[in-house]
Amino acid sequence: MKKISIIVAVAGDNGIGKDNKLLCHIPGDLKRFKKITSGHTVIMGKNTFLSLPGGPLKDRRNIVISDNPQDRFDGCIMVSSIKEALDHCEEDRETFIIGGASVYRQFMPYTTRLYLTRVNKCFDADTFFPEINAEEWTEISKEKHQAKEQTDFTYDYVVLERKS
Ligand SMILES: NC(=O)c1ccc[n+]([C@@H]2O[C@H](COP(=O)([O-])OP(=O)(O)OC[C@H]3O[C@@H](n4cnc5c(N)ncnc54)[C@H](OP(=O)(O)O)[C@@H]3O)[C@@H](O)[C@H]2O)c1
Repeated sequence: MKKISIIVAVAGDNGIGKDNKLLCHIPGDLKRFKKITSGHTVIMGKNTFLSLPGGPLKDRRNIVISDNPQDRFDGCIMVSSIKEALDHCEEDRETFIIGGASVYRQFMPYTTRLYLTRVNKCFDADTFFPEINAEEWTEISKEKHQAKEQTDFTYDYVVLERKS
């Protein structure tokens, strides 16, 4: 069975980005993202790929979705549809959808696990995560984090699993 998971940092109003950048940087969250996704396939939209400061993510198989056949990014597998991306997902291995908004939305129906970083603050965002219907998901873990020097807000790591 294909195991598709979404990993995302969401602000209080579901904002996830602005001007093709993240809304905030939480050092611990970046470490968590790396730990969870390393060794796995990650799937992203072209805008998200272009927003990465260092190109393809190391130690991960990078799949980038674009409609433009001329787009070729070193170190990435290029696909032109959600179906083609799904064909690249290995059986019994977790694949991570890492954004952005358009790709999250399209993969939601195939996703069985959500790794959320819920940021308890709203920012000026232009890109939003789709509404999560609480009735469809069970919370399997929650870790609360206090505000610190670099982050003037609290945030929670929450993992949700789709009810069968
Ligand atoms: N908070 C978080 O955890 C998080 C994570 C990731 C990203 N983000 C943020 O999200 C924002 C980017 O999101 P976005 O929605 O603008 O862009 P995106 O989903 O990263 O990329 C959109 C592009 O992907 C391609 N694409 C998407 N679906 C496709 C399909 N079915 N078939 C073919 N191509 C397809 C298209 O590229 P073409 O135009 O080439 O066809 C489309 O323009 C940024 O602000 C980023 O920082 C936040």
